[in-house]
Amino acid sequence: MSPTHRLAAGAAAGALALLSACATQPAVPSAAPPGIQGADTRAPIESGRDYHTFSNVDEFRVRHLALDLRVDFDAQRLIGRADLAIERVAGDRRTLVLDTRGLDVRGVEWLAAGTGRALSYSVGAGQGPLGAPLSISLPPDPDRNFVLRIAYSTRPEASGLQWIAPAGTAGRQQPFLYSQSQSIHARSWVPLQDSPQVRMTFDATIRVPPGLRALMGAEHDPAPSADGVYRFHMPQPIPSYLLAIAAGRIDFRAVGPRTGVYAEPEVIESAAREFADTEKMLEAGAQLFGPYRWGRYDLLVLPPSFPFGGMENPRLSFITPTLLAGDRSLVGVVAHELAHSWSGNLVTNATWRDFWLNEGFTVYLEHRIMEAVYGPRRASMEALLGYQSLEKEVASLPAADQVLAIDLRGRDPDDGMSDIPYEKGRFFLNWLESRVGAPALHDFLRDYFAHFSFQSISVEQFLAYLDARLLAQHPGAVPPAALQEWIFEPGLPATAIRPQSDVLAKVDAERAAFLAGNRAASALPYAAWSTQERLYFLNNLPQPMPRAQLDALDAALRLTDEANSEVAFSWLSIAIRNDYAPAWPRLERYLVSIGRRKLIVPLYEDLMKTPAGAARARAIYAQARPGYHPIATATLDKTVLEGKTP
Ligand code: BES
Ligand code: ZN
Repeated sequence: MSPTHRLAAGAAAGALALLSACATQPAVPSAAPPGIQGADTRAPIESGRDYHTFSNVDEFRVRHLALDLRVDFDAQRLIGRADLAIERVAGDRRTLVLDTRGLDVRGVEWLAAGTGRALSYSVGAGQGPLGAPLSISLPPDPDRNFVLRIAYSTRPEASGLQWIAPAGTAGRQQPFLYSQSQSIHARSWVPLQDSPQVRMTFDATIRVPPGLRALMGAEHDPAPSADGVYRFHMPQPIPSYLLAIAAGRIDFRAVGPRTGVYAEPEVIESAAREFADTEKMLEAGAQLFGPYRWGRYDLLVLPPSFPFGGMENPRLSFITPTLLAGDRSLVGVVAHELAHSWSGNLVTNATWRDFWLNEGFTVYLEHRIMEAVYGPRRASMEALLGYQSLEKEVASLPAADQVLAIDLRGRDPDDGMSDIPYEKGRFFLNWLESRVGAPALHDFLRDYFAHFSFQSISVEQFLAYLDARLLAQHPGAVPPAALQEWIFEPGLPATAIRPQSDVLAKVDAERAAFLAGNRAASALPYAAWSTQERLYFLNNLPQPMPRAQLDALDAALRLTDEANSEVAFSWLSIAIRNDYAPAWPRLERYLVSIGRRKLIVPLYEDLMKTPAGAARARAIYAQARPGYHPIATATLDKTVLEGKTP
C-alpha cells in the first residue's frame, strides 16, 4: 500500500466512509507542485500529502545515504559530502528537488562508474522553517537508479545542530555537538528528501578531533577510535527525522546484553545506575508488541541544554540529564523513547498531521512497559498526571489545535507538539481498549506493527486497518460517531476514561487536611511519597495560596532546595504564580542550568504575566539564552522578547 495516495480527507463527517476506498487506491501523482507552494489552506487537506517538504517524493525516492563529514568545532560546521542513491519511482521529470535549510552547497555531481560529472543546480528562496528547495538538473535519459554526490557544509546557526562550548558540558573541558532532526531540521545538516514518508538506509564516516568520540544512531564499534575517524552503518531504513549525530567527550557503559549508556565521564556512573532497568524495559516491550527490530538499544545522555526529555533516534535515544534524579523516578521518559522503537520508528507518521500516530501510541506503549516493569500502582499515577495535564491543555489551546488529525499547513510542524497528540492520543487508545478489551487491543497492535513495519502511514490508513482488523471482529463495540469525534473533533470526548489511582486519592485527602488547617506541613507523609505522589500533591494546590502556607510547605518539605527536576518545576511554577520571593535565586539557577523546553517555557510564560515577573524573565533570559538550543530560543524569543502569549 502506498502512503502517497491522494484522498481529500474531510475533517468531519464522511471521512470514515471514504476509508476503505483510501486503503486500496493506487498512487496517483499530484499535479500540484511540491512543498507549500501548492498549499491552499482553505482547500481540503489531502491525506498522506506532506505539506512540509519541497522534494518531489512522488517522482524520486532517496533509498540510501552515504555521509562523509568532518566535525569542525572551531568553525562550528560539518564539512564534507552526502552521496544519495536515488530511485526514480514515477514520471520522467529532469529536475530533482531536495530540502535544505541554510546549507552551503559547493557542488552536485552525477556519480557513474567511479567518475563524477558536474550537474547544474540552484537553491530557491528561503521559506522560514521549511528552508529552501535545492533543484538539481539531471542528465537526459538518466537511469532509474542513480547516485548524486553533494559537497556541502552546514552553518553555525543550523537549526538542527547545537554546538556547545566546553562551559555547557559536565566536564567543562571539551566542546559537544548533537543533532535534533525532528520535525524538519534534518535538512539543516544534510541535503535530502526531508519527509517522514521517505525511508533510507545509511553509512557514514565521521571525523572528529582526537580525544573526542562521534556517535550516530546506527551500528558502530563502541570502542574509542585512535585517529578520530568513526564509521557507522544503518541497515534498517529510517525516515530523515530520525537521523542523528553527536560528538564530544563520551564514554560507554553496558547496562545489559543489548543495552548501554553513553555519557560524559562525569555522569556515566550515575547514568548507568539510573537507567539500569533499560534491558527489562526492552524485554517487556518485545513481549508486548513484537520483536525488537533494531539490534541494540543504547541511550546517550546529553548536556543539560537538550531541549527535550528524550528523542527516539533508532538504536540510540538521546536523553536529557534532568532524568538523573538518583532514584529512577523519571525513567518513564526512557520507556517512552524505547516504545517509539515500535510506534514511530517501525510504523511512522506519513505526515506531521499524523504525528499523533507516533506519540499517542507511544504514550500508550510507554504506560504498558512501565506497568510491566514497575507495576500498575506507578503506571496509574503517571496516567492520572497525564490526564490532568491534558485537561489543562484542552482549556488553553484553540479548538483547531485540539484535533488529533491536526492541520499544520503553513505552520512549523514543531508547533504540533502539545498534550493533544500525546495524551489525547493515548486516552483514545485507552478508550478503544475499554470497548474491545485489552487482549484484543494488544493483539491488534502487534499485528499493526508487523503489518506496517518500516512503512509510513496516514491516519486514514490507520483507520482503514482498524476497521478491517479490529472493529469488524467486534461489531457494535465502537460507535463510528464516537471514533469520528476522537480523531477529527476538538476537545476531550465525554467517552474519555479518567484514570483511577487509590494512591493519589490518599494524597488528595492529605492535601485537603493541610489546606483546612487540620494537618501541619511537617505532619504530611511527604518524605515517604514517591515523585509521582509529590507531583500530584503540588500540581493540585489551589491558586493563589496564603504566604503562611507556602512558607510552611517550603520549610517542612524543603521545596526550594528540591533536586528532582520535575518536582522543582512544579514548585517553581507555584512560587511564580504566588510571587513567592524566597524561590527567586533557585528559579534563576534552574532556568540558567536547564534547557529542556517543557521544564522552562511554562516558567517563563508564568513570569511574563506580571510586570515584575516580566522584568525578572528578561534578566534571567539574557543570562540563559546563550546556553539554550535554537529550538528553545525560537519559542522563548517570542514569549520573553516579544511578549507573545501562546
Ligand atoms: N519525538 C519526541 C520529541 C519531539 C517531538 C521532538 C516533536 C521534536 C518534535 C519524543 O519522543 C518525546 O515525545 N519526548 C518527550 C518525552 C515524553 C513525552 C515522555 C519530551 O521530550 O518531553
Ligand atoms: Zn515521543
